[in-house]
Amino acid sequence: MTTENKSRIIVALDDMDGAAAFHLARQVEGEVWGVKIGLELFIAEGASLVIDFTNRLRLNVFLDLKLHDIPNTVARAVSRAAALRASLINLHCSGGLQMMRAAKVALEALHISEAFPGTPPRLLGVTVLTSLKEEDLEWVGLGGGLAGGIAMTVKKMAEAAKAAGLDGVVCSPQEIALVRGACGGNFLIVTPGCRPEWADVNDQKRVMKPEEAVALGADYIVIGRPITKPPEKIGAPLDAVRAINSAIESALKERNDR
Ligand code: C5P
Repeated sequence: MTTENKSRIIVALDDMDGAAAFHLARQVEGEVWGVKIGLELFIAEGASLVIDFTNRLRLNVFLDLKLHDIPNTVARAVSRAAALRASLINLHCSGGLQMMRAAKVALEALHISEAFPGTPPRLLGVTVLTSLKEEDLEWVGLGGGLAGGIAMTVKKMAEAAKAAGLDGVVCSPQEIALVRGACGGNFLIVTPGCRPEWADVNDQKRVMKPEEAVALGADYIVIGRPITKPPEKIGAPLDAVRAINSAIESALKERNDR
């Protein structure tokens, strides 16, 4: 189920237990679009944590499980994830067109099912993980195909995701403009790897400011540590959220005024 809110922020709840994640989410609810529950938290706390979030908090949950299996298994898994009332769920584009299509068809079936209240989640494809370089793809036999390297692989995966009926993709800030150009305005683009100018880069390599990512066409930005562990000069997580929201709003206003 999707809660509307004009913020573009999805807070990554990493490196904390369920109680700390709920507490953090409570502090920022209403001022962020949503939170991301990834494998770490999901494996530790289980589906009941997701249900707790979606029942008790005014924000959207991005259930970042990056599914990849045979079409039938992934289709069933996304239906189960939908029942937890997440707003966004994802799978790996590299699982193939049939797997993506089967997952989307399973969600579409929920749309017309009387037993399913509300709106099913939107489905995103994970393109190429930003931790991978060209030689990593070569090493597992997936490189060398496309001139233009990883960026072209990301574009191709995004086009396949769109052809399979997915709602959008997760990609790095470097590929936002390429994907937006290839897949059009109604295709969701969610990107991690963003850092406000006042934040530590941590282990992220090629970062972009959140307002730059949004100006390039990102719909939502996934940000973890700058919000969950903000620098002292910024204050609490809610202060960090407000600073990022306001930088994004100014950038969008500037663009619209041009
Ligand atoms: O703390 P930080 O802002 O770096 O967190 C970013 C989040 O986005 C983490 O949950 C990380 O796993 C995720 N992510 C990423 N880069 C990717 C894909 C996911 O940083 N390419």
